[in-house]
Amino acid sequence: MEVATTPRPSATTPPLEGLPPGPNWSLPRMTWRWFRRPLQTLEECQARFGDMFTYRLPYEGTWVFVSDREAVKQVFTGDPRLLHAGEANIILLPVLGAHSVLLLDEPEHMAQRKLMLPPFHGKRMQAYSEVMSDVAAEEIDRWPTDDPIRARPRMQAVTLEVILRAVFGIEEGEGLTQLRDELRGALGELSNPRRLIFPIILGPKRLQRYPAFRRLLDGVDALIYPEIQARRGAPDLAERDDILSLLLQARHEDGSPMNDRELRDELMTLLVAGHETTATGLSWAIELLSRHPEELARLEDELAAGNEEYLDAVVKETLRLRPVIALVLRKLVEPMEIGGRLLPAGVSVAPAIHLVHRNPEIYPEPERFRPERFLEQPPGTYTFIPFGGGVRRCLGASFAEFEMAVVLRELVSRRRIRPVGGPEHPVRSTITNVPSRDAEIIAQAR
Ligand code: HEM
Repeated sequence: MEVATTPRPSATTPPLEGLPPGPNWSLPRMTWRWFRRPLQTLEECQARFGDMFTYRLPYEGTWVFVSDREAVKQVFTGDPRLLHAGEANIILLPVLGAHSVLLLDEPEHMAQRKLMLPPFHGKRMQAYSEVMSDVAAEEIDRWPTDDPIRARPRMQAVTLEVILRAVFGIEEGEGLTQLRDELRGALGELSNPRRLIFPIILGPKRLQRYPAFRRLLDGVDALIYPEIQARRGAPDLAERDDILSLLLQARHEDGSPMNDRELRDELMTLLVAGHETTATGLSWAIELLSRHPEELARLEDELAAGNEEYLDAVVKETLRLRPVIALVLRKLVEPMEIGGRLLPAGVSVAPAIHLVHRNPEIYPEPERFRPERFLEQPPGTYTFIPFGGGVRRCLGASFAEFEMAVVLRELVSRRRIRPVGGPEHPVRSTITNVPSRDAEIIAQAR
């Protein structure tokens, strides 16, 4: 097949005007393909049109995918006033609310992001370590020893529990049970792929007023707001180190605290952004390790010897080979030159994580699970992008990698895992790409 290449920008070549080529399918076909087979669609389009191509979706508008490292760098280092991520994430508005850091742009985004950075600083991760290992150990010890289990729902239970405890800082018995049960139900409903069809048909703004949807969110709000109020008045607020307490103590530049609405939207953002994603990453790590006995044996040996580097490489290689999210979006406020093309205002540029991570020039034998590659070469800022990049890079990246490592360490030290059936392939679940049989394994006792 003939492969079109994206022209490189240079001092002598003026940028090409307008959109790069893309499939000329009808809008329903584009939509169907994207929702049924997103990764294959990306791969096919790259094979046909090269590293830059155009795709159209209802309500989302026009997307221009890029996977060349220079173009990705241009997007991540470009002026955030001209590259709007918040606007491009509008589909999340009904659930997260208008103050969510994921939905804001420009100064409002930076102001909110600054307030949220301290709890996610790499150095703070140790504070969450105990919660993470306790929750993981309790969950793993409940698993049967000889029957097949699906790892993904188990990992969802772990990551939901971890994020609830890290965010709210409440222990068992202190109201955690009710909050957890309610939130689990509501978050499960909200991340149900069949519900995703609503934002597409109604559009995110109208969905916000849709009664069934409103009821679901009102139920969640009825739990979160009282929790915020109670914590605001907690006598030990200054000594607490859970995320809610830290956010309550954070101050805007003018010295004002975050209001309840802001806090609710950010808490919801952390719960939604932090649990399903990390559970998916963990499920893939388990699926891949169970099918790679040599790599699993090396991990066991290294951990037994007290070395953590290989564990970190396993986490990174999992997120490279099976990125949880296939792309990120930036909507152009003005025409902008990217990858040698002058793209019109209004389109969304989409660094294609899935394609960047499969570039054989960066990752030889890209389809192989080979954690060693991250011991030989550190991850590149614009070539290892499971968490996106630039001023929008995932706030929870350290938290997620740390949690994946802690949970995998508990698993490997407690159980011997082996796969059930043939290799699993990625299938769409809302916005993440999950193992097709939910990472089915047998986890024998050690
Ligand atoms: C393996 C797990 C995770 C993956 C793969 C992931 C991936 C991502 C990606 C791709 C973005 C968009 C970045 C961009 O547009 O350039 C993002 C943003 C974000 N993530 Fe994560 N994430 C994970 C876990 C978490 C966790 C655990 C939290 C919080 C506890 C979190 C909170 C956020 C927030 C707040 C943003 C918005 C940042 C902003 O717009 O400034 N994520 N994440």
